[in-house]
Amino acid sequence: MKAIDIRNKYLKFFEKHGHKVIPSAPLIPENDPSVLFNTAGMQPLVPYLLGQKHPEGNRLTDFQKCVRTVDIDEVGDNRHLTYFEMLGNWSLGDYFKEESIQMSFDFLTKELKIPVEKLYITVFGGNEVLQKDEETATYWQKAGISKNNIYFLKDNWWIAGETGPCGSDTEIFYDTGKPKCSENCNPDCDCGKYVEIWNNVFMQFFKDENGELTPLKQKNVDTGLGLERMAMLLQGKETPFDTELFKPVMDKLFELQKIDYIESRRIIAEHLRSSMMIISDGGRPSNVDRGYVLRRLIRRMIRHMNKLQIDLNEISTLIEIYVQNLKEMYPELENNFEIIKNTIIEEKNKFVKTLAYGEKEFNKEMNKAIQNGEKLISGKVVFKLYDTYGFPPEVTKELAEENKLTVDIQEFDKLFKEHQEKSRQGSEQKFKGGLAEQNEVTVAYHTATHLLNAALKVVLGPDTHQRGSNITTERMRFDFNCDHKLTDEEKKKTEDLVNEWIQAELPVTIEEMTKEEAIKSGAECMFIEKYPDIVTVYKIGNISKELCGGPHVRNTSEIGKFKIKKEEASSAGIRRIKAILE
Ligand code: SER
Repeated sequence: MKAIDIRNKYLKFFEKHGHKVIPSAPLIPENDPSVLFNTAGMQPLVPYLLGQKHPEGNRLTDFQKCVRTVDIDEVGDNRHLTYFEMLGNWSLGDYFKEESIQMSFDFLTKELKIPVEKLYITVFGGNEVLQKDEETATYWQKAGISKNNIYFLKDNWWIAGETGPCGSDTEIFYDTGKPKCSENCNPDCDCGKYVEIWNNVFMQFFKDENGELTPLKQKNVDTGLGLERMAMLLQGKETPFDTELFKPVMDKLFELQKIDYIESRRIIAEHLRSSMMIISDGGRPSNVDRGYVLRRLIRRMIRHMNKLQIDLNEISTLIEIYVQNLKEMYPELENNFEIIKNTIIEEKNKFVKTLAYGEKEFNKEMNKAIQNGEKLISGKVVFKLYDTYGFPPEVTKELAEENKLTVDIQEFDKLFKEHQEKSRQGSEQKFKGGLAEQNEVTVAYHTATHLLNAALKVVLGPDTHQRGSNITTERMRFDFNCDHKLTDEEKKKTEDLVNEWIQAELPVTIEEMTKEEAIKSGAECMFIEKYPDIVTVYKIGNISKELCGGPHVRNTSEIGKFKIKKEEASSAGIRRIKAILE
C-alpha cells in the first residue's frame, strides 16, 4: 500500500469514528520562536490538550508534517529520517483508553489488514509515583491481542520536551518476521525485529519546571503513527528509502553514480526532501535556530554529492523528481517550486565557495593531529571550520571518521554556546524602548506584519500578498510578491503608513467564522489550505483583515515605532523587508 493510501485510509477511518479532519499545521510553528519545528502531531494542539475549546470539537484527526533533528547524524542508516509525517487522532477530554485501543486495533487489523499475531504491545509498567497500567493491557486483550504479545515497560511515558501535557503510553510494534536476536529479544530491543508503528499517549497530567505532575482538566488521548515506517512495513521493504516516497530519487542517484555508497545516497535523498519541506513552509538557511538546521541539511547533502562525485547541477533534477513524486501528498512543493530550487541553489553556491578551502584546512589539521600521534580533532578546529568555512560540525565529524579520527564535539558545543551567548547579549543590548518581555515583543511584531501587509497593498497595489514571515525578538522579516526593487519613496510611504496606523490607536479585534465567510469578506490569507473550516480573523480598525491564529496586541498603540531596515530580493519575484520596532 502506498503512503498516500495509508494516509487517506487513516483519515477516513477516524472521520467515520466521529473525528474532524484538520489540516497539518506548517512545519514551522507560527510566531513561536521557542520551538524550531513541529516534532509531533500534538504540538500545535497543546492549548486544546490543556483545556481550551477546539473550534472543530473534541475528536480530531490529521496528518502532521514533522522534523526531528536530534538524530541528524544518524541519517544514512536504514531507518533514521529528519522529516517524517505523523498520522494522529486526538480525544480532547472525550474517549479514553478503551475506545482508543479498540480503534487502533480495528484500523490496523481491518483497514490495513495486518495479521493480529504480527502486533506486539508495550504498556506502562509503573514507577515510584504511578501504578502499572493493567487496565490498558486488559483492553488490548479484549480487542484480540494475545497476553504473550503484551509487555510492561517502565519508560512507556511520553512528553514533548521537559514540561507540558504528558502521560503514560502504549506502543504498538510490528513483528517483521526476522529471527529473534537473542532469547530475550522483545519489542524493547532495537535489533530491528520489532518496529514501533504507533504510540497512543494517555495525556492526563501536566509536568511543571519542578517535575511535579498535576492532573489536567481533562483526560486526553494523543496518538501518532509514523507514515514512512508504516509504508515500509506494509510494502515488505527493508528501509523507508525503498518505498515509493524516496525510490525515484534513490534510483536517479544510482544512475548518476553507480558506486556502492548507499549511505551517501540515503543522506542526499533524505536531507533534500527535508530541506524542500522546510523551505516550502517558509524556512530559509541562516546561522541561527531553524535556519541553521536547514543550512546543515543542505550542506551535508552537498558534501555527500561531492563525495559521490555527482555534478551539483543535478540538484535541480533531483528537486524536480521529488516535486513530481510528492506533489499529490504535498501540493505546496509544486506551488513553491521556484523558491525551493532557488534557495537550495543559492545555499549550494555559498557553500561551494568555501568547501574546497575548508577541506584543505581540515587536511592540514588532520595531518598535524596524526603527526602528534593524536586521534582526536579538537573542538577548536571544528569551531574554526564552522565559523570560517561554514562547515556544520557533523560534516567535520564525518570527514574525521572517514580518516579514522574522532572529533571533540563537546568542546565544539561549548565554544558554539559561548559564541551564541555573545551574539545574544549583543542583540539584547540593541534592544531599546522598554519592550523587555519576549512575548510582548514578538506579539507586537506579529501585529506589525499585518500592518505592513496592508500598507504594501496600498503602496504597491492590491495584488501584493504576503509570501512568508519570520519574527524574532529583534526584528521582523516579511516576504511579499513584487517584481521590482522598492524605490526609496515606496519604502518611505510604506513606513509612514504603518506608523500612521500605529499612532491612530486602532483597535485589534478577533472574530470566528467559516473559512468561506472569511474569504468572501475579503480577509487576507497566505496558505488557505492550511486552515481548518472554522477560522479566526483578526481585524485592525478598517485597514486590515487577515486569517490568523494570533496572538496580537489589543491596540496598535502598543506596537511602538516601525522602521524598515532593509529591502532586498528574496527569490525570483519575491522581495523581503526587514524591519524593527523601536
Ligand atoms: N505525541 C506522541 C508521539 O509523538 C503520540 O503522537 O509519539
